[in-house]
Amino acid sequence: MRLFIALLLPDEVIAPLETLQDGFPTGRPVPAENLHLTLAFLGEQSDEITQAVHEGLETLRAPAPCVTLAGGAILGGRHGQALGLNADGGAALRDLHDRVQARLRGSGLTPERRRFRPHVTLARLKGHADATPHLARLSTTSIGPFACTSFGLFASTLHPQGAIHEELARYPLAALPEAGPK
Ligand code: 2AM
Repeated sequence: MRLFIALLLPDEVIAPLETLQDGFPTGRPVPAENLHLTLAFLGEQSDEITQAVHEGLETLRAPAPCVTLAGGAILGGRHGQALGLNADGGAALRDLHDRVQARLRGSGLTPERRRFRPHVTLARLKGHADATPHLARLSTTSIGPFACTSFGLFASTLHPQGAIHEELARYPLAALPEAGPK
């Protein structure tokens, strides 16, 4: 199975992201049900490794990060460019990413060498389409902060029409304590 681990976005964030996608004349928008913030991409893995990863993630305890999506990002990949929003989740998001990486190492996987660049991909661009006009619009966009209270293990199946994501498991994140009197 082709696996990845991602933070789930709360429902109230999906509609504003779809509104942003409506304005992209080029490229293929990411369907609403596929919008996510990737924490780790694992690639093709056996059923045994998938089970080990799941068992590792099941016992992970971490606070729910508060995330703000702001500013456009062009994300280059081997399979073409993508357009998205940068995500800032502060120390809690970096900490969650580190804990996920530690669990993956514990499951026998080698962590990705790429620097963690939190983002939400909104559209995959065709060929070498010029994304700069869209970046200008995204640069003035800010959504959040919102709490992300769970993350999931997903399988991605590639199809000519686009990837289909299946949520294999969902893991809760602990709510941050309310700020009380000092
Ligand atoms: P992204 O859209 O946040 O970049 C499933 O393939 C998901 O894994 C994609 O939505 C993509 O998230 C992420 N991903 C990260 N690295 C990848 C890679 N090298 N190849 C494919 N997907 C990758």
